[in-house]
Amino acid sequence: MRCSSRFPVGAALLTAGGEIFSGCNVENACYSLGVCAERTAIQKAISEGHTRFRAMAIASDMADFITPCGACRQVMREFGTDWDLYLTKPDGTYIVKTLQELLPLSFGPEDLQKA
Ligand code: THU
Repeated sequence: MRCSSRFPVGAALLTAGGEIFSGCNVENACYSLGVCAERTAIQKAISEGHTRFRAMAIASDMADFITPCGACRQVMREFGTDWDLYLTKPDGTYIVKTLQELLPLSFGPEDLQKA
């Protein structure tokens, strides 16, 4: 299987219990059906019963730090705002941002309780 966008991404999600779930972007000939590496990892973890997360590392072969798309940030936010995202470069360097930093003033499940 190839990455039709030629933009392969990998993600590794660390749960509160110390388990690691990895994911890659899964693309489709119908482009809009593709899913990002980050959401693949989250869906694998959720489907195995893990809902509390400590950190996620994201990697690509881009020269610059890889950063998650807006849709992934919102999906991550469903599980809290105080966990860490490691944004990496192929040379092994990285920066760490909290989800709060990447998605300030976010809407989440708590807001539904206000209705
Ligand atoms: N992609 C990810 O998997 N994660 C990101 O953080 C950015 C983009 C994927 C989606 C698509 O398969 C390809 O990269 C090009 O956008």
